Amino acid sequence: MRNTGITQRIIIISTVGLAVLLGMTFFVFKTQGAGVQQPIAYNHQAHVKKKGEPCQTCHRYFEERDVAGRPVMATCIECHTNPVTKSKEEEKLRQMAEQQQELAWTRVTVMPDHVRFSHMRHVKVGRIDCSVCHGDMGELTTPPTKPNILINMNFCLDCHRAPNEKITKVYVKPVKKDKDAEPEKAPEKPTVIKKRNYEPVTTDCIACHR
Ligand code: HEC
Ligand code: HEC
Ligand code: HEC
Ligand code: HEC
Ligand code: HEC
Repeated sequence: MRNTGITQRIIIISTVGLAVLLGMTFFVFKTQGAGVQQPIAYNHQAHVKKKGEPCQTCHRYFEERDVAGRPVMATCIECHTNPVTKSKEEEKLRQMAEQQQELAWTRVTVMPDHVRFSHMRHVKVGRIDCSVCHGDMGELTTPPTKPNILINMNFCLDCHRAPNEKITKVYVKPVKKDKDAEPEKAPEKPTVIKKRNYEPVTTDCIACHR
């Protein structure tokens, strides 16, 4: 009798164990499939809106390359060697840095291989503000799981056909504030630059496709 009791218990325990395991596996698969996992729950709002950090601090290449570029660990650590908040994520960042782990950000806004897109051409030459294509990134408190604005072929074409209608904000390079400057000597806010008058842009397939 005792033996059957034990056997039953073993069966129950292993069934429960198996169920928990299955549940966990399902959960892991589900969360991976459902969202985008980023190494750190990065907060754009805390940096951009609260601290006025310009996009270029972390996205360093949009003036000279096709890609805007995403920040490497060394960029974050320029400011986070010592704690600046009590955030657990910030602590995790420092631990990762100590273990010399790199930050493998998952791309959310991504075009297929057959599309050619250049940030330099649009931001530096075209003077289009980031928000025209990416929405208000400075509002985000967690990494996006999908782009704020869906960028598909029509989105590109609509603007190329009528750029003056779609380019609602021009990109103005921010003036780096000099922390030590006396208030009256602080640089003036950049004067509002007039929107340029755009000519319609090409809609030739080969301009955007390779
Ligand atoms: C005209 C539209 C447009 C504008 C303006 C624009 N982007 Fe993008 N951005 C895109 C597209 C399209 C992609 C995806 C490109 C690809 O996959 O080839 C992208 C991708 C990105 C990415 C991820 C991949 C990468 O390039 O590193 C970042 C970061 C980014 N943009 C930041 C910015 C910032 C910062 C600005 C402003 C300085 C900006 N973008 C302005 C359209 C735009
Ligand atoms: C130019 C300096 C600077 C850089 C570069 C920088 N940070 Fe920060 N970070 C700050 C400051 C300042 C705060 C505190 C903001 C506040 O007062 O809430 C902060 C806050 C944080 C927090 C806590 C925010 C929250 O959710 O409360 C995290 C996490 C963080 N940073 C991660 C990063 C990561 C990851 C990178 C690199 C991609 C990075 N930081 C790059 C200055 C910086
Ligand atoms: C202090 C660093 C920092 C600053 C400043 C910053 N970003 Fe980011 N940005 C990141 C990090 C880290 C990621 C990847 C994690 C995420 O998506 O939140 C990212 C992701 C993005 C993406 C999504 C890329 C993709 O994969 O689709 C866009 C678009 C973007 N940033 C635009 C901007 C714009 C526009 C500004 C200025 C208004 C800005 N960022 C300022 C660190 C920064
Ligand atoms: C909000 C407006 C806008 C959006 C959205 C936009 N573009 Fe453009 N694009 C422009 C402007 C303006 C220029 C011309 C810039 C200049 O040279 O002054 C341009 C130039 C180009 C060029 C160079 C054309 C040439 O004649 O050499 C290519 C290629 C291009 N865009 C591809 C794209 C792709 C791909 C997308 C979508 C992923 C896109 N654009 C989205 C406004 C836009
Ligand atoms: C201004 C840039 C631009 C021009 C011009 C353009 N395309 Fe595209 N096209 C794109 C982008 C960006 C995508 C990817 C959209 C996405 O992934 O949602 C795309 C996707 C496609 C696709 C794949 C559709 C799919 O469902 O995956 C085909 C096919 C295509 N384009 C054909 C053409 C043809 C043919 C022309 C000329 C008549 C053309 N494109 C002109 C930007 C452009």
